[in-house]
Parts: sequence; structure tokens; C-alpha cells
Amino acid sequence: MNHLLSIDDLTGDDIREVLRITPSFAEVAQRRIAKVPALRGQTVALLFYEDSTRTRLSFEVAAKRLSADTLNVSVSSSSVNKGESLRDTAETIEAMGIDAVVVRHRSSGVPLQLTRWLDAAVLNAGDGWHQHPTQALIDCHTLHQQLGDLSGSRIAIVGDIKHSRVARSNVAAFTKLGASVVLVAPPTLLPAAVSTWPVTVETNMDAAMASVDAVYLLRMQRERQNSAFVPDLREYAIRYGMTSARAALVGPDVPILHPGPMNRGVEIAAAVPDLDQVVVIDQVRNGVAVRMAVLFLLLGSGPPPELPIASDPSSEAATSATST
Ligand code: CP
Repeated sequence: MNHLLSIDDLTGDDIREVLRITPSFAEVAQRRIAKVPALRGQTVALLFYEDSTRTRLSFEVAAKRLSADTLNVSVSSSSVNKGESLRDTAETIEAMGIDAVVVRHRSSGVPLQLTRWLDAAVLNAGDGWHQHPTQALIDCHTLHQQLGDLSGSRIAIVGDIKHSRVARSNVAAFTKLGASVVLVAPPTLLPAAVSTWPVTVETNMDAAMASVDAVYLLRMQRERQNSAFVPDLREYAIRYGMTSARAALVGPDVPILHPGPMNRGVEIAAAVPDLDQVVVIDQVRNGVAVRMAVLFLLLGSGPPPELPIASDPSSEAATSATST
């Protein structure tokens, strides 16, 4: 793997490999000095043309925990404001010496285009409606923690499917792991080509909630909607929002996920994030370890950090080769 552009480029075994090595990176966060030297001497640039809290910060933390240097480009205060093109900006950053660039852009295809201009590894942190592959890997890992092997499980993805790169990435990732996916949305928020997707579709939220193993809520992406796709948000919340009553209907053991940021009161009622079955904070926590695993697979060499053996006094020695 030279770049990470799309879940479509990965096999089920590629995804399982990320899930297999992620726990050893999660363990690094528990160490007194939460750092391993795996990417010492390498530089990761973060180039975000769209707003982000989780993705940008967790890639930065992930790179630093692997001892890489980070170059955080603040697009809003950069020469992009003077009209500098994407290509000139990317080549300028690369001239400073980078090994990877993590890019988010409102236009689909920008990460692929960067691979044609740069020698550095390119990681897609979200491009338009197209893909958000590391979010999907995080969600696979979080669901794997909750459900075990996803093969045979039934996962509902609810909400603004049409404008969602997370939905496109997750449908591909979940089905590659053997899960079946039901999309739950009003017809106006379904993509035009949904009949070609490997999913079933349900427009009645309560009917869908009766028989699922996990529920994945999507943010209503008003910044990507150029017209009203639902008559009114209050009605949308009543018909498709995750309320406390619907959480009880799906059952307390059914995990509820959301990529964030949440629109409380729209796709999720204000009190629901506090329920034990809502694993949004686990998704964020897992984001650092999964992104460490991805950066390691793209840029690292040698084995990943070893997991210590429980209660084994020699475990500290076992991990010392990869500790800073
Ligand atoms: N889930 C996600 O991509 O969040 P951010 O927009 O905060 O990065």
C-alpha cells in the first residue's frame, strides 16, 4: 500500500490486518511515555482545506506518538488566500521535505490528483462526498470491539446518505468484512444510484430498528446541501432521529455510532449520547490508534510494537525495543 485513498482499494484482508495491529498501537497510549520510534526522522504534513476537529487532531497525535514530525498547514491563513493553486501549495510543502500528506478537500478526487504530483504518500482525510477511509477503519475497529467478527451482522446506516463520504466508505468496509447493511433514510437523502449499492433500503426507521446488530447515525450535512432535502428538521428528527425511545427499541446491547460532529436534536436527541450503548467517544479514542496503524503500514518498517503479556514481569523488556 503506497497511499490510502479509498476503502475500494482495500481487500477484506487488508482491513483485517489494520484491525489486527491496531491494539498494539492503542497500548502505546497507555505507556508512561506514549511514544514509539517507528517513524523517527519522517515528516507528516496535514493539509486540511475543510474544517475538522477529530481527523486532523488524531492524525497529528498519531504521527507524534510514532515520533514523526508534523507540519500542520493552516489553509485559512496560508497563501491559498492569495490564490495559490492546490498543486503549487502541495509542491511547496513537499519541497520542505515530507514523507506523507494527509489531505481533506471539498472536492472528490483531490487525494488521487495529489498522488500524480507528489512523491509523498497521500492519505485521504475526506474528499467531498466520495471517501473517508480512515473513518471507516475506525468504525470497523469499534464495531469489532463491540460485536466481534462482523461477518453475518446486520448494520443500519441512518440519515443523510446522499452527501456522506462516511456512508460510502462504511458500506464498502462493512460489506468487505461480511456484514449486511441496511440504509435508512427518506428517499430525498438517498443517492441516485443506490440500487447499484450492495445494501437494502428502508424508509421506515422504526421498522429498521427492530432487527439490527448496530446503528450508525450520520450527520445532516447541511454544508453540502444546495437545496432543502427535508421539509423541516423537526419533522426529520421525529421520523429519523435516534430518540431514547428508539434506543430502547433497538435494545441496550446494540451499539450506536456516529462519526461526529453530532447535531444534537436533529439526528440524535440531546440525551442519547449519554447512554451506555453510544460509543462515539470510543470511536474518537480508537481514531488515534487506527491512524497510527495506517501511518505505520504506509511509512514504517519492521514489526509493529509488541503487546505486553498480561502479568508478565518481563513485558516491559519485551516492549523496550520499540519504546522511546
Ligand atoms: N468524523 C470526522 O471526520 O470528524 P471531523 O470533521 O471533526 O474531522
